[in-house]
Amino acid sequence: MNEKVRMEGIFKRFPGVIANDGVDLDIREGEIHALLGENGAGKTTLMCVLAGIYSPDAGTIRIDGEKALIRSPRDAIHAGIGMVHQHFMLVAPYSVAENVTLGLNKPRFLLNERKLEAEVGKVAQSFGIQVDPHAKIWQLSVGEQQRVEILKSLYRGAKILILDEPTAVLTPQEVRELFATLRQMAKAGHTLVIISHKLEEVMSLSDRISIMRKGKRIATVNTKDTNPTELARLMVGREMLFELHKEKATPGDEVLSFCNLHALSDKGLPALRDISLSVRSKEIVGIAGVAGNGQRELAEVITGLRSATSGKVLVNGKDVTNNSPRQVIDQGVAHIPEDRKGAGTAPNLCVLDNLMLKCYRVEPFKNGPLLNLGRIREFAAKLVKQFQISTPSLETPVKLLSGGNVQKLILAREIATFSELMIAVHPTRGLDVGATEDVHQMLLEQRSKGAAILLISEDLDELLALSDRIDVIYEGKFMGEVPADADQIETIGLMMAGKKGEIQQPVPAGIRAQA
Ligand SMILES: Nc1ncnc2c1ncn2[C@@H]1O[C@H](COP(=O)(O)OP(=O)(O)OP(=O)(O)O)[C@@H](O)[C@H]1O
Ligand SMILES: [Mg+2]
Repeated sequence: MNEKVRMEGIFKRFPGVIANDGVDLDIREGEIHALLGENGAGKTTLMCVLAGIYSPDAGTIRIDGEKALIRSPRDAIHAGIGMVHQHFMLVAPYSVAENVTLGLNKPRFLLNERKLEAEVGKVAQSFGIQVDPHAKIWQLSVGEQQRVEILKSLYRGAKILILDEPTAVLTPQEVRELFATLRQMAKAGHTLVIISHKLEEVMSLSDRISIMRKGKRIATVNTKDTNPTELARLMVGREMLFELHKEKATPGDEVLSFCNLHALSDKGLPALRDISLSVRSKEIVGIAGVAGNGQRELAEVITGLRSATSGKVLVNGKDVTNNSPRQVIDQGVAHIPEDRKGAGTAPNLCVLDNLMLKCYRVEPFKNGPLLNLGRIREFAAKLVKQFQISTPSLETPVKLLSGGNVQKLILAREIATFSELMIAVHPTRGLDVGATEDVHQMLLEQRSKGAAILLISEDLDELLALSDRIDVIYEGKFMGEVPADADQIETIGLMMAGKKGEIQQPVPAGIRAQA
């Protein structure tokens, strides 16, 4: 295989961090090259350098053996390089075809809309990408939006496509479709770089794998000559156990219950349709389901971010239905939200402020009407250390942290003070293998300390490893409940696809008492 890209001695420094510390990387024509590494290792930065989003402080890039000066995304497109980011950059009210062709130098008034759509449709078809060119972006699922981003790069003639954690937000079905598309692209001679934390996926998709640690590339291996254990060791520099110590559940009193809950989605359609459940202290109840079946709305209704149209939510027997988020927090509810940049953090505020968002109003941080700044700094510094949040300082704005480190910050804040009830939505999405293991351990610790935990996740392995029982949600309804045993995978899979389970749910005791 020919060498397609050679990056040599790439240095990229941000205030307080060296994100890329003299990285050499070669990528071959027509291969699928995976980039692995811990949160903050410098993967996104390196690929942003290749895609012209960041200018390196030193280093060279060669494309097809020729030195390429890539100083802007425009230069990158010129050199045949496209990148699909973790956060999509699409214009919601516009159609797929409009988004794909947006910013191209052709005068718009000369473009016939129908012709445009046909053209875009043709490119989509040739790579097996299923998306309606006429649809508006806001109507599309996350997976479909990602396809539009890929199309956008292909339409601009990208021969090298970089995808930053493309599967983090996809359902298993969408992952399969994406991988089929990527394989087809590679076969047609395109070169692909994919950043991922999911070792199994990397093993099944890639030809070669490069591992980064602390800003350096420390190894490149042939996928067929390696295995997940070796990859994990290379990434974190220690043996990973991949096993959790979970004690048998000894559930206590009911902490959360909800009954006959109904709610609408952002689009005003029914998202929750008559669901009831209870979670007791010292247990983890998992909610399984394909994304978009009401999980987000459920978490939001419980935490006061969305109103229920009918039904009741009780926390420790107290009716909190349609209370404000602040009132819910005051009931001792912690929330790890799906949307890190919106609900999870205030991106322009610094690490310190974000860590203290919830507890600045309580002792010992409050000193009469004043804040005890010394105490606050000390506490925040402790959290940063304990949760290994990689940040140059406590004053760094959160928007400058790597994806995984933002997630660690939210976890640190929500777990720092014990909460009787925790609503955890995709708690390990975007985390590296080491951090994922730590978070799993932490959730189990909260459980043994007495927390009631509602765990919403799409990762069946995670649900099975942590939960005591699992409810499956489909189109806003619970399909049934199963114990969290590996031999239930088939049943769970069927219920996720809308087939009803055998077990009926009991009405929660707290609700019965109130009725
Ligand atoms: N625009 C920026 N300004 C300041 N610092 C930044 C910026 N972008 C990244 N960094 C820092 O550079 C380092 C590498 O970040 P990068 O996003 O490349 O990591 P990553 O390997 O992609 O991590 P993750 O797996 O968490 O996404 C981090 O310490 C991050 O905080
Ligand atoms: Mg990243």
